[in-house]
Amino acid sequence: MTLNVLELDDLTAIQVASVLDNAAQWKRDPAGIPQALKGKGVALVFEKPSARTRLSSEMAVATLSGHPIYIRPEELGIGTRETAEDVARTLGSYCAIIAARVFDHAVLEQMSAVSNVPVINLLSDRSHPCQGLADVLTIRELFGTVEGRRLAYIGDGNNVTASLAFAAALTGLELIVSSPPGYELDPEVVESARNLGGSITLIQDPIEAAQGVDAVYTDVWASMGEEAEAEERRVAFAGWQVDDRVMSAASKDAWFMHCLPAHRGEEVTASVIDGDRSAVWAQAANRMHTARALFALVVTEAGAD
Ligand code: CP
Ligand code: NVA
Repeated sequence: MTLNVLELDDLTAIQVASVLDNAAQWKRDPAGIPQALKGKGVALVFEKPSARTRLSSEMAVATLSGHPIYIRPEELGIGTRETAEDVARTLGSYCAIIAARVFDHAVLEQMSAVSNVPVINLLSDRSHPCQGLADVLTIRELFGTVEGRRLAYIGDGNNVTASLAFAAALTGLELIVSSPPGYELDPEVVESARNLGGSITLIQDPIEAAQGVDAVYTDVWASMGEEAEAEERRVAFAGWQVDDRVMSAASKDAWFMHCLPAHRGEEVTASVIDGDRSAVWAQAANRMHTARALFALVVTEAGAD
């Protein structure tokens, strides 16, 4: 079966648990990493910049004995040089997986509709599932369990928040989201995550949202592709900065999380992100471990036909 992962609700809770277990196991014991991609290529398509996603994906593929092929933003011309469907048909004739970072989520849907190999979302305007997996692995490592832990996300209800909502729903993490008016998480995402059994609470006041939580998460105020709105967003998000005041509303052992890249002095202060309760480097490192387990899962499912 071709398992496309455009958002985390494409996976079952059992598949997410298995990705987390394998990621943790292979992180502890690299000698046990399977050669799941031996002799196979993985197309890594990027329409936007990336540090963590590109590097972690390349190393994930290499350590599964596969061949990662990084494709620069200007190379394919998806929708201009040729259609998303034709790109997917072409890449799928050489590669066992197509993984893509795109501006418009619809491009991933067009690719997965015709692709004979799994399509994985490496970030779109709508979601960032690979980030969500690394985040729940990080929470599991920090606390020993994910279920019942409480995470407050403070800031833009964006692609990262959407995938966190599904990651939380599929692992029993309780999520509280605080966003300025007009920048809330898409109600359809909230409803879908709740339908999966997720506990998602929307609380506009950031201090109230952070009350007693185990971790506080934020992301940039203007995502890639929203640069023209940066100034107007700076004004709208001014009360949603994660600073020492927000962190002191959280539990006394609370961790700070951020997917990175970060803008110190905007969504987070340097004192918080560079402080001793910052988990951001653990999150970044876990991107490789969870990407490896996800690639291994989709290629194994594809081979099970
Ligand atoms: N967190 C994340 O996806 O980082 P990059 O944009 O650098 O890949
Ligand atoms: N929301 C950010 C995440 C970057 C990893 C963006 O889309 O630019």
